[in-house]
Amino acid sequence: MIKVGQIGAGAWGRNLLRNFAALSNCQVKVCCDKDAKVLNAIRAQYNDKISTTSRFEDLLGDNELDAVVIATLPQTHADFAIKALSCGKHVFVEKPLALKVEDAEKMLAAAEKNKRFLMIGHLLLYHPAVRKLKDYIEHGQLGNIHYLYSTRVNLGQVREIENALWSLTAHDISVAMYLINQSPLEVAATGKAYLREDIQDVVFLTLTFKNDIMAHIHASWLDPHKVRKFTVVGSKKMVVFDDMESSEKIRIYDKGYDWQKNAGTYDTFLTLREGDINIPRIDMVEPLKFECQHFIDCIMYKKAPFTDGENGLAVLRVLTAAQESLEKNGKPVKIKK
Ligand SMILES: NC(=O)c1ccc[n+]([C@@H]2O[C@H](COP(=O)([O-])OP(=O)(O)OC[C@H]3O[C@@H](n4cnc5c(N)ncnc54)[C@H](O)[C@@H]3O)[C@@H](O)[C@H]2O)c1
Repeated sequence: MIKVGQIGAGAWGRNLLRNFAALSNCQVKVCCDKDAKVLNAIRAQYNDKISTTSRFEDLLGDNELDAVVIATLPQTHADFAIKALSCGKHVFVEKPLALKVEDAEKMLAAAEKNKRFLMIGHLLLYHPAVRKLKDYIEHGQLGNIHYLYSTRVNLGQVREIENALWSLTAHDISVAMYLINQSPLEVAATGKAYLREDIQDVVFLTLTFKNDIMAHIHASWLDPHKVRKFTVVGSKKMVVFDDMESSEKIRIYDKGYDWQKNAGTYDTFLTLREGDINIPRIDMVEPLKFECQHFIDCIMYKKAPFTDGENGLAVLRVLTAAQESLEKNGKPVKIKK
């Protein structure tokens, strides 16, 4: 039984708590939050099976705890994570890893020094449909990836400190990097603030990768539609992953253009190919359950997390460059290694 303490049980943290608490090889021993109402709700929901505290030090000083889950706001992630790692706890931290690259590097160093795992909650990389899509790409079924684009829009939660870039795009960036299998070279970002001064409600990012592969991300909490969709265009096939679909999440389109030779000459010309649309069966597991189980299994079986600190840092570097580009009205910014 892996014993866990969690800090932050707000809108998202309560989902993490529910999933960790439901795992057979995990016991959520204690939950910390500075909001007394949140703690009362936890005690009521879990019948006092999970103890509560408003002091993070209680988690740090609890020698029975193997791990700490951090689901507070991003500006606190680095401090809590470094303290927990330094006290010998494994750490799961929600995205984004931190707000500054230097802080994230300190988190990674603390994990290494204390020989503890640091895992980032890049949830979509635990989504069975994203794994399936990756599988198709790895097996060459799409051919070479030309470009992909994602839309993450909703009339959603308006943040007071983070803009839509920091609040919404970490998932899309992590998926783009996973599918394309590399970090982008540069990013251009534009966006506008309509509801609050200087907090962009809508952003458009363009990531440029090696071999002219491009990824475009549109994210907004100020939109009439709820859309969570990725489109991947390959040289052989095209795929749409629509997370709003309840069962048919992936559609593979055998569509594209092929070069044909003119008989008897060296001329070539393009022909349109419009083949079948395939909807594969996907065995759905709640991605959050899969993610939480993975963290606990990593601790139990001493294997590094799939979304480790390096993965969190790589996405943070893109977010940081995108913020710089946003402030420069969309001027492309190179991503530092
Ligand atoms: N993976 C996802 O899909 C997903 C979705 C939403 C949010 N998130 C991430 O989860 C994190 C939390 O977001 P949220 O929407 O739950 O925020 P929230 O504001 O609803 O919850 C944060 C909680 O942390 C508590 N808290 C803050 N500072 C604290 C401190 N010093 N000590 C103790 N408790 C403290 C607050 O009281 C609150 O209950 C963020 O990093 C966010 O980006 C991830």
